[in-house]
Amino acid sequence: MHSLHQRRLLLGVGGGIAAYKSAELVRELTRQGAEVRVVMTAAATEFITPLTLQALSGHPVRQALFDAQAEAGMDHITLARWAELVLIAPATADLMARLALGLADDLLTTLCLATEAPIALAPAMNRQMWAAPATRDNATLLTTRGLHLLGPADGEQACGESGLGRMLEPQEIARRATTLLSSGPLAGVRVVVTAGPTREAIDPVRFISNRSSGRMGYAVAQAAAEAGANVLLVSGPVALPAPAGVERIMVESAEQMYTEVMAHPCDLFIATAAVADYRPQITAATKLKKTAAEMSLPLTRNPDILAAVAALPQPPFTVGFAAETDQLEQYARGKLEAKRLNMIAANWVGERAAGAGFESDENALELFWPGGSLTLPRAAKLPLARHLVKVISEHFHQLRPSP
Ligand code: CTP
Repeated sequence: MHSLHQRRLLLGVGGGIAAYKSAELVRELTRQGAEVRVVMTAAATEFITPLTLQALSGHPVRQALFDAQAEAGMDHITLARWAELVLIAPATADLMARLALGLADDLLTTLCLATEAPIALAPAMNRQMWAAPATRDNATLLTTRGLHLLGPADGEQACGESGLGRMLEPQEIARRATTLLSSGPLAGVRVVVTAGPTREAIDPVRFISNRSSGRMGYAVAQAAAEAGANVLLVSGPVALPAPAGVERIMVESAEQMYTEVMAHPCDLFIATAAVADYRPQITAATKLKKTAAEMSLPLTRNPDILAAVAALPQPPFTVGFAAETDQLEQYARGKLEAKRLNMIAANWVGERAAGAGFESDENALELFWPGGSLTLPRAAKLPLARHLVKVISEHFHQLRPSP
């Protein structure tokens, strides 16, 4: 997911054994497109060298509050203003205590006082230290002041003990940083979008598929990402690049799409994929030869991905798509009810589509939900997708006031 594209993160590294994971965190943040500047405490340099973090972030690492050379480039106030998020990982018990007191006795604590950016801490310490009343009070105080605590996690600790106090894994810290930085109606909401056709193999060279270009689904994924969501796009074979800020998993068959969707829990599921309803009962291991004058191909039903998601014990908000050549409302409402969806977006295909639909750049949608409907007039797929995502997010929040 490249949702940190060009976001400016100041990573503060405290002096704990988990500092070795900061290297991986810098990699993860930069991999997601973030600009990272690193500030280390003196104790942190005992655990990991500034050079490592300089090499990974591509910028000199700052340590000293009074550093004539560094101040000439970006002084500590400029650095504090530059940051969109100050992320401290690991945050030791000592660092939390100094922050709680409002000390400014080194560069990192000074920056925390000087910045207007949100501050997030990923605590890492021995479980007793985390449980100590002083640390508990400091954590409460810092949270009351609006600082965000990311973790800690429960589990095995470097000291050999086990309990609450482990630093969250770098990927999880990066994910939470993304959430903190995102804004928009779907900020922090986990969205899975399926898109494109599926391919059902007959033999190693042939398959059954359909004309879906995937463009509507890709536009929906992009619009959801623009609305601040963490978007996973599970896509069948199409020739489209992944939209910015969207994580993508490519699949071929309906069964693969089903497996990926089920492996990724979400808050909002939007099924735009034109999933093949059937697949060949048997996929031949070698290329079939034309020996007979006629042949028939026994087919078997594919899993209905959307219905399966909607039938989960705690289903996400589900949105289906329906492409119809006739009786649009009747069929669309039929699917809404049969699959127990929250909403369905229907569009005309074939003659009634008049140039819109599958392979076109434009589309129009009729939205139906239990007790209501709305027409989204014909538009290019991206503006249409943005309109759709706006309506979906309104309904989503009505149903779940605090996602
Ligand atoms: N869908 C799915 N998995 C399937 C089939 C469909 O997730 N195996 C989803 C599509 O992504 C779409 C909606 O279900 O959101 C379409 O419903 P469906 O009843 O399958 O549409 P059609 O295949 O067009 O159905 P019919 O042939 O009965 O009109």
